[in-house]
Amino acid sequence: MDRIQDCSPTTLVLVTAVVILVVAYMFKSLLEKKPENLPPEVPSSIPWLGQAVSFGQRPLEFLTEAYEKHGAVFSFTMVGKTFTFLVGSEASALLFNSKNENLNAEEVYSKLTTPVFGRGVAYDVPNHIFLEQKKMFKTGLNIARFKQHVPMIEEETVEYFKRWGDAGERDIFVALSELIILTASRCLHGKEIRSVLNEEVAQLYSDLDGGFSHAAWLLPGWLPLPSFRKRDAAHKAIKQVFYKAIAKRRESQEKEDDMLQTLLDSTYKTGRHLTDDEVAGMLLGLLMAGQHTSSTTSAWLAFFLAKNKDIQDQLYEEQVSVCGSDLPPLQYDQLKDLTLLDRCLKETLRLRPPIMVVMRECKTPQKVKGYTIPPGHQVCVSPTVNHSLKDQWGQDNDQFRPDRFLSDETSNSEKFAYIPFGAGRHRCIGEMFAYAQIKTIWSVLLRKYEFDLVDGYFPSVNYTTMIHTPYKPVIRYKKRSRPL
Ligand SMILES: *[C@@H]1O[C@H](CO)[C@@H](O)[C@H](O)[C@H]1NC(C)=O
Ligand SMILES: *[C@@H]1O[C@H](CO)[C@@H](O)[C@H](O)[C@H]1NC(C)=O
Repeated sequence: MDRIQDCSPTTLVLVTAVVILVVAYMFKSLLEKKPENLPPEVPSSIPWLGQAVSFGQRPLEFLTEAYEKHGAVFSFTMVGKTFTFLVGSEASALLFNSKNENLNAEEVYSKLTTPVFGRGVAYDVPNHIFLEQKKMFKTGLNIARFKQHVPMIEEETVEYFKRWGDAGERDIFVALSELIILTASRCLHGKEIRSVLNEEVAQLYSDLDGGFSHAAWLLPGWLPLPSFRKRDAAHKAIKQVFYKAIAKRRESQEKEDDMLQTLLDSTYKTGRHLTDDEVAGMLLGLLMAGQHTSSTTSAWLAFFLAKNKDIQDQLYEEQVSVCGSDLPPLQYDQLKDLTLLDRCLKETLRLRPPIMVVMRECKTPQKVKGYTIPPGHQVCVSPTVNHSLKDQWGQDNDQFRPDRFLSDETSNSEKFAYIPFGAGRHRCIGEMFAYAQIKTIWSVLLRKYEFDLVDGYFPSVNYTTMIHTPYKPVIRYKKRSRPL
């Protein structure tokens, strides 16, 4: 008893001292660490949730208004996090030129990609390992391969659209999503995996896809949400399909000339080969990275062309003039001569870039345009916003006018004006494949059909998923009557 009584005042003094020290420290660090020149903030009266609702409902208008009001750099709060947007080439250069240790990609993307692709690949590994993995992909995505891919994509497309018949009204986004899983899996995964791709497997992809949701991004991963459980089950099941194909290929004596073979033959700088699990994760990543972006872009292109019938007719004429009046099977070398189709695709990517926001987590204080972005902020660039500003694209910024790309300056991505595939160290490596795939699919469609809007309806943007798809994407089509 004595001892306790004895100790009490001492303890009390000590505790008080510690508390005072901690408070003083916190106070001091609060005063010190807070840079005076934080970016201007878009105010919100709702604590924690902040601008989540305004942004979620009308992200583009929200960002454009904030840009006009606050300038090229501004911050706002959503679900307890601070998001700082960089608008314009000068400001966005910070993100695209940054080192990964300063503006970090894994922190923001891993939560989404790791449950879908699995461990050991992409944003689950340190960036220098991911860069090695991207290099392996680059080796596998080469012109010689693209030359083989074009006839495969053409064949898959012709086969797929047989079910559409001669005329009707259908959901073109669903169709293109289904088709692109087939084409991408045939070209990028190889014949073994393509051959087992049936409706059941397609459903697994669709469940996996449900993993790329706002919920997965914002909510803790351990929550027992049905979409999380479906995603995890699908991940396991798909991996089994891949393991079998990988084993089959490893046992096979003949060497195929495709991406799967490239991955099996690749080694890290240390000399180590990829494990089956890493190969499977990379194949999954490759498909998912290309699938949505290509299907959304192809679907939006459909609606822009349905709205601009004159351009659609010119595209048909381009097929005839480049490939010949009997429209023989396509060849890779002809794709580059389909220049109007190329510009239409670019213009679609300008107006509807599939990825609306590119994000990094700030790790060290970043100075930009006189402001200091503190660690912890989510630093963002929006290709969509930059692709739609009047000061860059003129008064007809919201019009589909492919010929604006006749001037080389317009697509000069050095200046980050036109960034549908991102830029810098995290830039997309699939651009060439995506162009070859979409141009081939669209060549088949242009040769076969004429497209119209259904009663003039041009889809608005469906903001519910992370990739901005057309809302109610039903299109009218009829067999093209060929001029004699
Ligand atoms: C977009 O990029 C162009 C060219 O780099 C730049 O001049 C313009 O300010 C940018 N606009 C926005 C809002 O990012
Ligand atoms: C919007 O997107 C979600 C998610 O992909 C989809 O389930 C829904 O059907 C879409 N809505 C419309 C009307 O297109």
